Amino acid sequence: MSFEEKMLYEGKAKKVFTTDNMDEYRVYFKDDATAFNGEKKGTIQSKGVLNNSISSFFFELLQSKGINTHFVKKLNERDMLVKKLTIVPIEVVVRNIAAGSLAKRLGWEEGRKLKKPVVEFYYKSDELGDPLINRSHVAALDIATPDQLDELEGVSLKINSALSEFLTEKNILLVDFKLEYGLHKGALLLGDEISPDTCRFWDASTNEKLDKDRFRRDLGNVEEAYQEIWKRIGGK
Ligand code: TMP
Repeated sequence: MSFEEKMLYEGKAKKVFTTDNMDEYRVYFKDDATAFNGEKKGTIQSKGVLNNSISSFFFELLQSKGINTHFVKKLNERDMLVKKLTIVPIEVVVRNIAAGSLAKRLGWEEGRKLKKPVVEFYYKSDELGDPLINRSHVAALDIATPDQLDELEGVSLKINSALSEFLTEKNILLVDFKLEYGLHKGALLLGDEISPDTCRFWDASTNEKLDKDRFRRDLGNVEEAYQEIWKRIGGK
């Protein structure tokens, strides 16, 4: 009997399919873009192709630095093969420069350099719009143990160092980014994607935004910004 793949999940920017290997999924990157918890919708031409390439590149970079990720290989333009994860419902945001919701919450101007990286946890829930939570909330929600949370924070800071160091050489500022993790055979692996959808990248000379904020804030040249990131990190 031949294997029939099933779509397990369709998210805002990706679809996930089963494969003939029980331990692996195929992720398909769409051009669809949303912001403000789905209130704003659009498409960014070729975004799926670029985010698949950019994410694959960053996962390989991180793996070469000893960080465990779900990435197995890039299959084609829009598909990535990944290890199957049981998702930890916590989004980890790391920030080096104030922007977005942090700038708003603390009344800081965007672009203010932080004295040390800030790590934040958000509860992954579309219904609630991914609220900001702290360690006590995580314990009360029983979604991760204190040790797992320490590991999430430690690995996320290590990823911040590795990515910041690499991007500095490409004249890109890593302002902030969001990570998601999951468990695979008992090990915590980095999941999801690392792309201009999930990171803020600014040109280091001009502070020009080269990420999804161009879509969120209607700044124009959205696809060009994603292309520029791919070009600077070594793609075509
Ligand atoms: P924020 O400033 O809006 O909280 O965003 C912080 C970082 O997280 C930023 O790099 C964009 C990323 N992010 C996502 O990947 N998904 C989301 O749903 C949101 C709100 C932010």
